[in-house]
Amino acid sequence: ELITTTEGLRTRLAELSQAERLRSAGFVPTMGALHSGHAALARRAAEENDLALASIFVNPLQFGEAVDLERYPRTLDADLELLDAAGVRLAFAPSVEEMYPYGEPGVRVTAGPLAAKWEGASRPGHFDGALTVVAKLLHLAHAPVPVNRAYFGQKDAQQLTLVQQMVDDLNLDVQIVPVPIVRDADGLALSSRNRFLSEAERESALVLSRALRLLEERAAAHEPLDLDSAVALVQSAPGVELDYFEVVDPRTLEPLAENCEFTPFRGEGLAIVAAKVGPVRLIDNAVLSS
Ligand code: PAJ
Repeated sequence: ELITTTEGLRTRLAELSQAERLRSAGFVPTMGALHSGHAALARRAAEENDLALASIFVNPLQFGEAVDLERYPRTLDADLELLDAAGVRLAFAPSVEEMYPYGEPGVRVTAGPLAAKWEGASRPGHFDGALTVVAKLLHLAHAPVPVNRAYFGQKDAQQLTLVQQMVDDLNLDVQIVPVPIVRDADGLALSSRNRFLSEAERESALVLSRALRLLEERAAAHEPLDLDSAVALVQSAPGVELDYFEVVDPRTLEPLAENCEFTPFRGEGLAIVAAKVGPVRLIDNAVLSS
């Protein structure tokens, strides 16, 4: 069921909650152009809750360049089919005017110091824009039921960390559920932007997941990570422009002590990587544990 207005969403959530005495609602915020990664979030939301709902909104506030916003793929009909098949009952797909009726909002969420690092360093203002719309969406999609959950992909690890921080810092009444990364058979993490890769670029892009896999294996075997060799692997692929490749604390996203590069790896880490491949900026990550 497609809903395009905030008032319509509020009314429908109230009706359904009461008529069906729902105990929980699971919400999946997206920007559309949905793939199997989004479907995994949607299925989890449908399995774990009495009602599953999703949003499809390409949020102008979180885009830097206007061209990136304009060329972001829009595939509403296919998206609705995918959500339906996954068990999502309500799809909220508002217009920009519906979400921002007064134009650019004056009051916004400030994502804080963590938002200046990694993705934030190359995309200034991105996380302020993302958290502002996530805060709005969490309010709009908040059902009058005992438990509200919202599902986010581990693919966007920094976004997930910041959303959890916002929920904690502002005491939002929702449980954030992380969902593991869904990959293609060749290892490439699914992304709506992968469709812009040529065949050769796609082949090059595989070094990201290969390098992460290497680190995962070394960590699991208690070997030194030797991050330099993983960096060299990424840089050896034609057309790959590496932005960052680090092993960080999974909670704070601060780099782990240098010595884990040369001494056997112990504990928990998160390897994060970002690179430009042809026209596309790709991100990927892997949890390291031993
Ligand atoms: P979008 O890029 O559409 O992603 C929506 C959700 O799907 C995010 O939580 C993202 O982490 C998850 N996702 C994307 N690819 C995935 C994959 N391969 N495996 C698992 N999960 C994946 O992230 C956004 O939209 C926006 O910033 C949003 C939160 C909707 C705010 O505008």
